[in-house]
Amino acid sequence: VIPKPFNEPNLHYAKGSPERQKLVAALNNLRSRLPVQVPARGGPSSSRQDTTTQHVSMPMPSEHQNIFAQYASAAESDVSAAIGTALSAKAAWQNMPFTDRAAIFLRAAELVSGKYRYELIAATMLGQGKNAWQAEIDAAAELADFFRFNVGFAQEIYDKQPTVNSPGHHGRTDWRPLEGFVYAVSPFNFTAIGGNLVSAPALMGNVVVWKPSPMSVYPSYLVHKILLEAGLPPGVVQLVNGDAETVTKAVMGHREFSALTFIGSSDVFRALYAKAAEGIVAKKYRDFPRLAGETSGKNFHLVHPSADIENAARHTIRASFEYSGQKCSACARIYLPQSQATAFIDAMKRELTAVKVGDPEEFENFLGPVINQAAFDKITKAIDSANGDSQLERVIGGTYDGSKGFFIDPTMYVSKAADHELFDRELFGPVLVAHVYPDAEFDEVLDVIDRQGGNFALTGAIFANDQAAIRKAEDRLRWAAGNFYVNCKTTGAVIGQQAFGGARGSGTCDKAGSANLLMRFTAPRTLKEEY
Ligand code: SER
Repeated sequence: VIPKPFNEPNLHYAKGSPERQKLVAALNNLRSRLPVQVPARGGPSSSRQDTTTQHVSMPMPSEHQNIFAQYASAAESDVSAAIGTALSAKAAWQNMPFTDRAAIFLRAAELVSGKYRYELIAATMLGQGKNAWQAEIDAAAELADFFRFNVGFAQEIYDKQPTVNSPGHHGRTDWRPLEGFVYAVSPFNFTAIGGNLVSAPALMGNVVVWKPSPMSVYPSYLVHKILLEAGLPPGVVQLVNGDAETVTKAVMGHREFSALTFIGSSDVFRALYAKAAEGIVAKKYRDFPRLAGETSGKNFHLVHPSADIENAARHTIRASFEYSGQKCSACARIYLPQSQATAFIDAMKRELTAVKVGDPEEFENFLGPVINQAAFDKITKAIDSANGDSQLERVIGGTYDGSKGFFIDPTMYVSKAADHELFDRELFGPVLVAHVYPDAEFDEVLDVIDRQGGNFALTGAIFANDQAAIRKAEDRLRWAAGNFYVNCKTTGAVIGQQAFGGARGSGTCDKAGSANLLMRFTAPRTLKEEY
């Protein structure tokens, strides 16, 4: 019997708490081992022969003079070997009873929650620049949640069987995995996401080739190690580090490429979609590969005149600036009623006086660095241009310091132009742009929100006490967000509580944290027997 999934409780790291001491010890231990060395392929070294000689260094975002990780970059032959190993593991894996497959992931959740918790959090803090709480909700809680809840979602699918049999026959559904292999591509910003991208297909009996972002190779390597320690047969998930083009070329050039599960930017997903389409047209694949993607956003908060302004401001600070705005769910545009705009901005400023930017290892810091030089350059260029733009009034921040780490202060502009390009362009940083609307034009602002946002439709929120306004927004903004929140922020979906994902330019809306995503990795067979 599969146990009922539960959400991993969050630890709080209060000053002097045992968990804070353990985390500090893990951070010190990890620091003493830097730069960590990551092989081109995960798994026991005895089971693989990498041909690569190229090594790539990843700087630490909070101290870019220091190298956090060095990874060996897979050559095309390494990727082909990984695919071959995965395919040879397939027969035994898909024939393993589901309860045995499930037990591996449930054990992995226990290892995340216990033995490896602080190591995973320390890796996520130093490598991805998260503070302790942001790393805790990601690399401990969400990762364990994905493993536990995906087991439950897989069980839900296996339980779906025909409910009617006419006399003399028996029908059933064989929830087959896909015939080939699944390609999982995970982003830098959540250690947990890799855990979801591999466990969802693997639980349904698939084998997976997994390429994490270069900026999260080390925590991903740990996640893979945990899965192996939990009993995952070594061939089932093949972790491959390397240059995206090389890995993708080998994977998507393979006849047995059956699915892509992707989280990252819309532009990259679009390019992969096009590549898959080329392969399909050229009849390169045995299957029509499934493509599941959760991608970019330009997410919104809408404040109604009836809103609790203090609450809206506190939620906006968290949604826009936690993890320096580097969550795909982060709020990057806000719509304020004229009567409350000043009160809202004053509340933001007041709350932000207590907010510090700096080294994520210091527990008092709320914002850490952005991930790398390229992100820093892109965001600060946009800030420079916004600071000199007569259409934008800078009300908060607009400053940055890249001397030691990639630090950008929380920044907010009010736009005089209703259609400024900042309402559409995703920056993936701590930059918020506001549009102030006349109170009487609430209906019109719903149209503006729906139209703006760069065709993205990931998350959105309304802050209001007027129930009619809430219902109207829910209705009019039906397609503007895959996750819509009322009186709470756009970030922080909890597995098993808020399935996550959007449509339009934000992805295929297959919903991480639900059976829908796992359904993409099955090719059900219908059986009918007469007797
Ligand atoms: N699922 C995360 C959130 O809701 C983003 O990836 O914030």
